[in-house]
Amino acid sequence: MRVALLFRNMSDDSSARIVAGLRTWLATAPPGARLPSNRELVARYGASPVTVQKAMRTLGALGLVESRPGVGTFARAVRTARAPDYGWQTAALGAPRTHLPPVSSPLRSASPDAIGLHAGYPDRTLLPERLVRSALARAARGDAALVRSPVPGRPELRAWFATELAEATPPGVTPPSARDVVVVPGSQIGLSGIFRALVGPGRPLLLESPTYWGAILAAAQAGVRTVPVPSGPDGPDPDELARAFAETGARVLYAQPNYANPTGAQWSRERAQRVLDLVRAHGAFLVEDDWAHDFGIETTARPLAAHDDAGHVVYVRSLTKSVSPAVRVAGIIARGPARDRVLADHGAESMYVSDLLQVAALDVVTQRGWLTHLRGLAQQLRSRRDLLAGALAEHVPDAHLDHVPRGGLHLWARLPDGTDLDRLTRDCEAAGVLIAPGTEWFPAEPSGPHVRLNFSGPDPARFPDGARVLGEALATQT
Ligand SMILES: Cc1ncc(COP(=O)(O)O)c(C=O)c1O
Repeated sequence: MRVALLFRNMSDDSSARIVAGLRTWLATAPPGARLPSNRELVARYGASPVTVQKAMRTLGALGLVESRPGVGTFARAVRTARAPDYGWQTAALGAPRTHLPPVSSPLRSASPDAIGLHAGYPDRTLLPERLVRSALARAARGDAALVRSPVPGRPELRAWFATELAEATPPGVTPPSARDVVVVPGSQIGLSGIFRALVGPGRPLLLESPTYWGAILAAAQAGVRTVPVPSGPDGPDPDELARAFAETGARVLYAQPNYANPTGAQWSRERAQRVLDLVRAHGAFLVEDDWAHDFGIETTARPLAAHDDAGHVVYVRSLTKSVSPAVRVAGIIARGPARDRVLADHGAESMYVSDLLQVAALDVVTQRGWLTHLRGLAQQLRSRRDLLAGALAEHVPDAHLDHVPRGGLHLWARLPDGTDLDRLTRDCEAAGVLIAPGTEWFPAEPSGPHVRLNFSGPDPARFPDGARVLGEALATQT
C-alpha cells in the first residue's frame, strides 16, 4: 500500500514536471507544431510511458494540444474569430464597491521546481495522509455519500468541537455544548458570515494590525468598516484597543490569540485576560480565529473562548490545514442570539456542509493515530522553523525577526526601510523562489516592509537556497 502510494506521488510529480516543461515550449510554438514523440519524452524526462501519457492527457484537457492517432500530437491553434468586446459589462457592472485581488499572493500556484515560501498551507508530507485516505474511503462506503447533513452540521462532529473546547474550560465556567456549534465549509467562509451577521455593512470592526489577509478581504466583502489596532508579539496594545473601542463604538474585535498569521504571536495569559476584560467592558464580541490550534511547537494553543460563557467570544476552529486542504471543515462556537444569527447566515450562504467531508474529518480527529501525528508534526515544525530562521540569519542578515514563533507555520521578517517589496517579490520569483510580500496583511498602510515566509512548505532541504536568493535579491536594493 505504502509503496503504491509512493509511486503514485512520484508519478504525479513527474507528470507535473513534463506538463510544465511542455507548456513553456508551447508558449512560443506555432499552432500545428508537432510535439516530441512519447518515446522521446520518456527518454528526455526519465519518466515511464504511463507518466508521459498522463501529461499528454492533461495538456489535451487544457486545450493546448490535439493528438491525431497514428500521426502524433500537435500544438492546438487558438481559435479567435475576433477579439470579443465586453465593454458593455463595464457600464452594466459600474465601479466595484471594493477592489478584491483575483488571487492573493499566498494562494499563487508554484511550478514544481520553484522553492515555495509564500503559501499558507502545510506541505502534504506534514498531513496525516494515511488517516485521511482511509477516512475518506470509509465515508464514501457509508450513508454519508448520499445524504444531506443537518444545516448546523452532523451532531457527532458538533459534539467533538464542543468537547475539545470544554476540555480547556476551567472550573466555574460553563462549557459549550454541541448546540452552540455550527459546522461551516472552512473558516474563511465562516469569517465572512460572522462579519455579515454580527457587524453588518458600514459598521466598525476592530482588527489587529498586521492580521490575516483573508480576514481583511472577508471584511471588505461584507462591507464592514475596518479599524486597525496595532499588535505585537504579545498581542494587541491594550491602551490602543481601549481607545479604538471608545472612539468607534465598535462591538466586534477579530483576533488570533494563538500563533497569529502572520506574526506567529501567542498572547500572554495576562494580555489575553486584559483583552477579554476590555471586550466585556464594551459589551462587545471577540471573534477568535484559532486557525493554528494544531500547530503548537513549544506551547499548546490556549483558546480564550474557554474562559467565556457569557457569549462574548465567537470561536472559529478550522480543520482544513491540519487534516487536509481537501477536507474543508471548520466549527464556529457561538452562544445566544449571536449563534442564531451565525446559523441563519450559514443557512442562507452554504445551506450545509458535505456530510462526506464531515464524517471523514471526524473519523480522522478521533483516531488514536491523530494525536501521535500531532506530536510528530510539532517536532517537524520545530526543525523546519529553526532551519529557515538559521538560513535567514546566515543569508539575509538585514532581515529582522521580532521573535521566533512558538507555533504556527510562518516567520514574519522585517526588512530595511525603503525596500521595494514588489520588486523583491518579482526578482525572487524570477530566480525560482516564491515569497509573500507583507503588504497584504495590513488593513491600512504597512508599518514597514515585511515578508512572510512559510516553513511548512515543500522540501525544507532547499530552504537555505531560498534564503540565499532572497538575500541576493535584497542586496541589489541597498
Ligand atoms: C488566520 C487564518 N484564518 C482562516 C483561514 C482560512 O482557513 P480555512 O481553510 O479553514 O478556510 C486561514 C487560511 O489561510 C488563516 O490563515
